[in-house]
Amino acid sequence: MTGVAFQTRARTIDHLGREQIADTPTAVSELWKNAYDAYARNVELNLFDGPDPIAAVTDDGHGMNYEEFTKHWLVIGTESKAGADRTPIEDRFGLRFRMKQGQKGIGRLSSAKLGSTLLLISKRENCDFVVALIDWRVFENPYLNLSDIQFPVNEVKSSSEILRLLPSIKSSLVENIIGDAKHKDARLQRVHAAWLEWEKEAGPSDTPINPISSKVIASSINSLNITERHLRNWAVWNGKGSHGTGLFVSNINNDFEALLAPEINDTAAMASRRRFFETLSSFVDPFTDPVNSRNVDPKPELSYSARRWVGDKSSIIIGTETEFNLRNISSIEHQIDGQIDEEGVFTGRIKAFGAWMPDDVIIRPPKNIRIPTRGDSKLG
Ligand SMILES: Nc1ncnc2c1ncn2[C@@H]1O[C@H](COP(=O)(O)OP(=O)(O)OP(=O)(O)O)[C@@H](O)[C@H]1O
Ligand SMILES: [Mg+2]
Repeated sequence: MTGVAFQTRARTIDHLGREQIADTPTAVSELWKNAYDAYARNVELNLFDGPDPIAAVTDDGHGMNYEEFTKHWLVIGTESKAGADRTPIEDRFGLRFRMKQGQKGIGRLSSAKLGSTLLLISKRENCDFVVALIDWRVFENPYLNLSDIQFPVNEVKSSSEILRLLPSIKSSLVENIIGDAKHKDARLQRVHAAWLEWEKEAGPSDTPINPISSKVIASSINSLNITERHLRNWAVWNGKGSHGTGLFVSNINNDFEALLAPEINDTAAMASRRRFFETLSSFVDPFTDPVNSRNVDPKPELSYSARRWVGDKSSIIIGTETEFNLRNISSIEHQIDGQIDEEGVFTGRIKAFGAWMPDDVIIRPPKNIRIPTRGDSKLG
């Protein structure tokens, strides 16, 4: 008898991340949920115009240090959030307990949906900055083994060092994904062979339009141009904050391009804008009524916004203030408004054909239904 382990092709990451996520707004909401889980008060999406437009998702949550980044962020299916909440009180910055949104340990892979190259910067209070550069296109190569791909991760003391570091992280990333047939390191030989194989299948590797060519990927990484303009409004960068996480993405996708375009005249772009608004404008529970105390949810203490930057001028796409609330639906003819407890029993009021029933209503669940009690499927 022999013991044989599963091996993982790099493409698995693509399947779990980019391909699982329905659309761009859903990807953004996954990243915003991570910020919420990290006890952020502010989370933003900023889209910057330019020859190489950049999308930035930034938060002021507790951030990650080097160890947390390599043990949580870089480990797929991280268990860090399963079960009980382990966020220590000092990482909550005086905020009320938050029910964790994350469960599966793959949400961060949705950043691949935003664009192909990701510069991640994270900082935990009293720790150094962690800086990592990732290119998601390598996960499309079916000949690469997951364990053969290495991304550069650095620690720096001050934000000013980050941009100075960029050229060296870029070249380190490129070396790692192109490989080297003659290198003594067998991993780099395998990487090289995997690209040869993949390019053989997909056409000549030096065709500039061949998107899977390692040369095309390398040259786009080399021309990555993240500058002070993209970073300066993030509190962690400009020194106003001491902790948080920022994802800076280049080679952004078509939905973001549509949001940046000054005028939109094609229907696909218009639909993409509308979807964005529908998904993200109610990121925090919209069913709270600021006037009727019965329905006031504790304020979620999270503000979020999406902005577009043209040169130095920004305009809001979505913000906390644009969400709809319960007032907007008060005229709806049929409504069920109440609570469901852990036993599955509904208590509340019902409006039918425009009239509220005079008394509260109790509705018990059918007898043949087993009430789930697991932490992640509990009722209530
Ligand atoms: N913005 C962030 N700030 C701090 N830590 C983060 C942030 N984003 C991700 N992390 C860390 O990376 C881990 C993985 O995040 P990911 O979204 O992939 O999984 P999850 O949130 O645990 O589950 P789900 O897949 O359901 O979202 C988190 O548990 C957290 O430790
Ligand atoms: Mg998550």
